[in-house]
Amino acid sequence: MTTTAAPQQETTFTLRPRPKLGLGSAIIGREEEALVLDVIRRKEPFRYYGHNPDAPPPMAATLEKEFAAKIGMKYALCVTSGTAALEVALGALGIGPGDEVIVPAWSWISCYTAIVRVGALPVLAEINDTMCLAPGEITRLKTPRTKAALVIHYQGVSAEMDELLAEAKQAGIHLVEDCCESMNATYKGKQTGSMGPINCFSYQNNKFMTSGEGGAIVTNDPKLYERAVRFHDIGQMRAYHANIVKPTEAAFPGDQFRITELQAAMALAQLRKTDYIKAHCRKLSAHILSGIQDLKDLKLRRIPDPTGDTGIEIYMSLPTNPLAIEFRNRLNALNVNCNKTTGTYMQYERDYVKSGQTHAPGANPYPKGGTWPAKGYRKEDFPKTEEMIPKLIALPLGMLYTEEDADYIASAVRHVHRDLLG
Ligand SMILES: Cc1ncc(COP(=O)(O)O)c(C=O)c1O
Repeated sequence: MTTTAAPQQETTFTLRPRPKLGLGSAIIGREEEALVLDVIRRKEPFRYYGHNPDAPPPMAATLEKEFAAKIGMKYALCVTSGTAALEVALGALGIGPGDEVIVPAWSWISCYTAIVRVGALPVLAEINDTMCLAPGEITRLKTPRTKAALVIHYQGVSAEMDELLAEAKQAGIHLVEDCCESMNATYKGKQTGSMGPINCFSYQNNKFMTSGEGGAIVTNDPKLYERAVRFHDIGQMRAYHANIVKPTEAAFPGDQFRITELQAAMALAQLRKTDYIKAHCRKLSAHILSGIQDLKDLKLRRIPDPTGDTGIEIYMSLPTNPLAIEFRNRLNALNVNCNKTTGTYMQYERDYVKSGQTHAPGANPYPKGGTWPAKGYRKEDFPKTEEMIPKLIALPLGMLYTEEDADYIASAVRHVHRDLLG
């Protein structure tokens, strides 16, 4: 280990090497290898049939059973991505042209695009200091056309579900949970993904568990399950699914979002590691938090149920944006991985939102006439989100981080804090 004076620090600091990031991806090992090899050796990469008509390939089927059990829902259906899961969920709910879906203005790209892709209008909402959809927004934004709100449990932490579920119920709309960043988080003892009618997960590379790409929806409702199956498999309800739920719904054209046995094998091995991942990240996160929570002018993210936090990322807020930038630069100079935020954007700043463009004019859900961007799609319409985001610092944790790394991160934060705010 090298001992160096970090640049631009008032005092010297013994540098530790920068730890490598990664959750499930960082602990891919023999378990994944064994299951993926099994698929290859059997030469059965397609989930619905292989060589033996009496014994269909097992990986996607087993993954769906274990995934549903983990989340505490009756049915899981695996798909090709979290984005596909969002489209399947909205499609299963029958959301389309003429409908509106409330979504945080600050969210992952496809939380917006999925709504447009099913033909509905995204209606942008503010977040609060939980970094998730702010209670009150559903009531403020609801119109007679609103069919659903998408709550994104941001980076390993559940949103304020009691308030949001009550508000959605009062408004008579569905509250769909996007758990792509919150696999294995809980809220008052319930898994994220077990509280809305149909909820979405991603197995993309940066996620809690991964198969490179992949995703899932979960539901307790047999009709939503059937509609999700049809939406993800070009309208079909194959015998495999018909044995799980007797088809009653009319067929309609769907997309093709089927998972492969190779993806499912890898995701299955990863699913079985999720409690280990959570325990590790929670332990490190608690270590760091206990070392920094007394620091003046450094506000930690409000976590609605700290007992259910997965611990994958710590958020701190500083009094101003220039201070946050300087704080980040100094932490980076000390080999502490830190970001502004992780993989999330102001939707109103994306090109296609500013232009109001869609792939074909007829697919455009935006209000006709008037100027664009209209009210509700401009920076000035989101004062709370705009105020909050620039002051943030994200400290991602990972499976290759050690307790020594956690101690080091806490002392690096204290060190920079002393220099900048002490
Ligand atoms: C909140 C959220 N929703 C949806 C997605 C989409 O998942 P995928 O990348 O698997 O399409 C992501 C992925 O980054 C996400 O973070």
